[in-house]
Amino acid sequence: MTGQTGTPMERSIYEFPELFRRVHMERPGDIQREVKFLVQVWSRYLKRPVRRLLDIGAGDSPHGQIFARQGLAVVGIDRSPTMIAAGRAQAAKNPRLKFYRRRIERFTLPEPPFDAAIFMSETFPIITRNADLLTHLAAVARALRSGGLYCIDIDRHAGVELITQRRQWRERKVRVGAIRIDVREFYRPIAWDEGLHSIYELECRIHFADRVVTTRDIIPVRYTTPTLMDLAARASGCFEMIACCADNRFDRPLARCRGRWLAVLRRK
Ligand SMILES: C[S@@+](CC[C@H](N)C(=O)[O-])C[C@H]1O[C@@H](n2cnc3c(N)ncnc32)[C@H](O)[C@@H]1O
Repeated sequence: MTGQTGTPMERSIYEFPELFRRVHMERPGDIQREVKFLVQVWSRYLKRPVRRLLDIGAGDSPHGQIFARQGLAVVGIDRSPTMIAAGRAQAAKNPRLKFYRRRIERFTLPEPPFDAAIFMSETFPIITRNADLLTHLAAVARALRSGGLYCIDIDRHAGVELITQRRQWRERKVRVGAIRIDVREFYRPIAWDEGLHSIYELECRIHFADRVVTTRDIIPVRYTTPTLMDLAARASGCFEMIACCADNRFDRPLARCRGRWLAVLRRK
């Protein structure tokens, strides 16, 4: 996820593509496990091979990098030039992975239709306005073939609580090679009638060898449950939600979801 920074002078952790993954507590093998599960979802619900894939909010497209190496044609869209540059550098020798700088809320692409789209790493809930949600779904639908699948990875958002005062949630230290990062996470207040579930503030003090950089990202999070996703799909008029999978498995009931769930939408 990512939102705005605290002040115009403050930097964002997303300017440091090699660090943000560790700050977000990604574990080794997570991306590979997600890629494997996406392939299972496609073979269960699509019944035709995925040859062209659209990665939304791709960042440097860790999933796309793997799929492109497996022979899929992948296009990643993201608004961050730094993330896109990192993705292009990694894919330097692979012309099957392309990037476009686009906003997820509303976009078009000069590309033939895609068989499937993905939106990973719990970023979907940053779309907080209804209007943006609908233009986003319309843009993805335009990019997909009829019957194409849109898989969206979403945090379980358990224990939702209305926050009326800024307060610290967690504090931890992360190491990336020789670099130490002091991470503090805060909840920020929201009004009762906000279309949000929380506002998450991520502060990182990055101790490089020669300097310390502080980043601050302020990330609005919409409460997205399976029923709300179903409603959004219906309201879009172009998708139906055909499955929800808990924790990258088909056999775990949603009620026992521990971490994240995957919404599977089908383009009408
Ligand atoms: C948590 S990262 C996930 C990147 C990648 N999908 C992954 O799994 O590592 C979220 C990405 O969403 C992008 N992003 C956030 N808001 C966006 C927006 N409104 N339009 C386009 N990209 C956006 C950020 O630049 C960032 O690269």
